[in-house]
Amino acid sequence: MSYYQYHVFFCINQREGGAQCCSNFGAQELRDYAKQRIKSLKLDGKHKIRINNAGCLDRCDEGPVIVIYPDEVWYTYIDKDDIDEIISEHLIKGKVVERLRI
Ligand code: FES
Repeated sequence: MSYYQYHVFFCINQREGGAQCCSNFGAQELRDYAKQRIKSLKLDGKHKIRINNAGCLDRCDEGPVIVIYPDEVWYTYIDKDDIDEIISEHLIKGKVVERLRI
């Protein structure tokens, strides 16, 4: 059994020289939004859902990216609506959001 029900890693890496990276697509802002949403839904806490920053996850060209463990499901996203859908479908209902999966 995993320590958290879901452990979500948001790449917030900023690459040098204008190379494509998750930070160029609002990764930090949307990670902060996800963390706040999980908290307001009271889904955070021990053995529940954890949202963490991550460095480069080496899928920069597909970014911005997140990965959810223990499911090992990767997503990209554009806006808060996408984050809301990942929360409501995957993190609450346990259903993979295929349209955002990478
Ligand atoms: S910068 Fe996000 S995966 Fe590399």
